[in-house]
Amino acid sequence: MYQPSSDDFPWLADEPDYAYFDTAATCLVPTCVRHAVDRYLLDTHANAHRGSYARSREATQQLEQGRQTLAKWFQIQPDQLAFSASTTQALNDLAQAVPIAWQAGDEILLSIAEHHANLLPWQRLAQRFDLKLRFIELTPEGDLATPELLLTERTRVVAVSAASNVTGAVFELAPLLRAARQRGVVSIVDAAQLAPHQPQKLGLLDADAVVCSAHKFYGVTGLGLLLLAPRFADQLSPFRVGGGIVTKVTREHAEYLSDVHRFEAGTPNTLAVIAAATATEWLDRNADLSHYLDTQRAELSHLLTHREWLQVLPAGPMQTPTLSLVSSSVHAHDLAAYLDSQRIEARAGHHCAQPLLQYLGHSGVVRIALGAYTTPRHLERLVSVLDEAYELFS
Ligand SMILES: Cc1ncc(COP(=O)(O)O)c(C=O)c1O
Repeated sequence: MYQPSSDDFPWLADEPDYAYFDTAATCLVPTCVRHAVDRYLLDTHANAHRGSYARSREATQQLEQGRQTLAKWFQIQPDQLAFSASTTQALNDLAQAVPIAWQAGDEILLSIAEHHANLLPWQRLAQRFDLKLRFIELTPEGDLATPELLLTERTRVVAVSAASNVTGAVFELAPLLRAARQRGVVSIVDAAQLAPHQPQKLGLLDADAVVCSAHKFYGVTGLGLLLLAPRFADQLSPFRVGGGIVTKVTREHAEYLSDVHRFEAGTPNTLAVIAAATATEWLDRNADLSHYLDTQRAELSHLLTHREWLQVLPAGPMQTPTLSLVSSSVHAHDLAAYLDSQRIEARAGHHCAQPLLQYLGHSGVVRIALGAYTTPRHLERLVSVLDEAYELFS
């Protein structure tokens, strides 16, 4: 059975009471990731895919080895995996690049649970081309409510998250994606919250594009990943243009690479790719982490019961180890500030999902996102410090 270890997270030994619960935003990295980054900076840091000298060749080799490791983790082919700066950048790029001749009144289907990263790029497009955004709502249990029924003759894109960054609900997207495919509707999945927990599911989703961020699966910030179905990638032009993606450039024209590198203009973030690949190898070595986190989430839900002043937002039948708390008597920011004063770090607010919070009727929630370093002691402290906050503020 997985147990958090100070070999991976030394601060667990130095400060066992310190608890970090913002893992759904950015994970803290295990020692092996830190060491891989150190080694890269010391020995290899250089432009990949540019120089013919040894250091650049080595950087290129490590970048492409990282792509292979990551592709294997997602169970896709390396040439289906493009690197970006973040999920946000990937979604913005895709919204601009979808090969659709938009007509006024065309529809984009989203869910009400989208992170702003998967809402605002489509909102902008809708304003520009006079499109209609439609939203899949939630059941009272927190699951998506009959999403396929909202596909219409006018739907051109379905862009939905695979798991909510607020409630932790994992959405069953297979029927929706199947229906979209049958109708020739472009499908894009924001898997930022699912990737850390069910990476192999990303490759299996029958979507045109699936995106996520490495810093949410124990890599470092600055790396987004786009899993592109070949049938879709073949129709896409480069999102951005510049160095590293061309075969020939004249004063007036450019010819672009035909493989996945054409989506990666500019100096690649080799450091973040190495960190992400190292993180997935570490996750593979700790395959029962998922089970551990499931049990810790269940334990936390159990510890939180029987408090009238505090509710866990409903999250459907399948969940990531993230949950959100809402209180009728203490403001979310007061709770988070008090937790912080006791060395418990959690985030309060709308979590970049304002439409979801409006839909649920809350102005702010406290999100507790468990990670590979969360110990039973952290959960017990969390609950007792929440109780102290209630005594203080209510
Ligand atoms: C579901 C979801 N989508 C998109 C994002 C944006 O990711 P990034 O900040 O890495 O671009 C997040 C970040 O929390 C998220 O949880």
